[in-house]
Amino acid sequence: MADPWLEAYNFAIEIAKKAGATSPFQRDFIGEESASKKGACILTDEPTWIIDPVDGTTNFVHGFPFVAVSIAFAVNKELEFGVVYSCFEDKLYKGRKGQGAYCDEESIQVSDNKDIKKSVIISEFGTDRDRSKVKKICSTMERILLIPVHGIRGTGTAATNMCMVARGSVEAFFEIGIHCWDVAAGAVIVQEAGGVVCDVNGGPFDLMSRRMMCANHADIANRVIKEIEIFPSDRDDHT
Ligand code: IPD
Repeated sequence: MADPWLEAYNFAIEIAKKAGATSPFQRDFIGEESASKKGACILTDEPTWIIDPVDGTTNFVHGFPFVAVSIAFAVNKELEFGVVYSCFEDKLYKGRKGQGAYCDEESIQVSDNKDIKKSVIISEFGTDRDRSKVKKICSTMERILLIPVHGIRGTGTAATNMCMVARGSVEAFFEIGIHCWDVAAGAVIVQEAGGVVCDVNGGPFDLMSRRMMCANHADIANRVIKEIEIFPSDRDDHT
């Protein structure tokens, strides 16, 4: 069986060379740990790894069994592939632009349900404890529940949440306040599984905006978006 990590690595080298890198190691990195030291994350046209080594830090600390490693690769600001390893489940999700999405060796696809009342939606309370933001998050959850939907869930890791959309276990996931390294890999996986990724206002997805909605279908995304109370969030690339 092919080693997916080696496959991803070789693919990154291949793309980096095509993008004009003189050495396979001439690449940029954006990651949670480096960002906390340097401040703003600027995505350039250079081949760039976008990495979260531990997505679900609170889960990890408390032993709540959803933690993921999230690795994406971008060239010319376009996401080329994403790999999410869901550690406790021991499942490797991957998506490569134009080539589909997989969980281990199995091809995955989003749910074909377009009925919001038969849908399960994921969202998270996030990490910000600002009172006005928490109120908006709670109010949004209430409005979505009362649509009504089948349920609201959350695994505590954005990368895994996106894989739940990609594999058809839920219809949508959105969050305001996430970071680019939480969602970069998942964005490729969802799109390659046939889903949509956009802003929480229905506009185009902006990796640095700290806002993300993904769904099995635009109809579901747009119905959920009607209930989202948007609040301001600093961008990842703010200076
Ligand atoms: C967090 C997780 C969580 C989400 C937070 C993220 P981290 O990432 O993805 O699900 O609600 O907004 O910051 O800090 O565990 O890498």
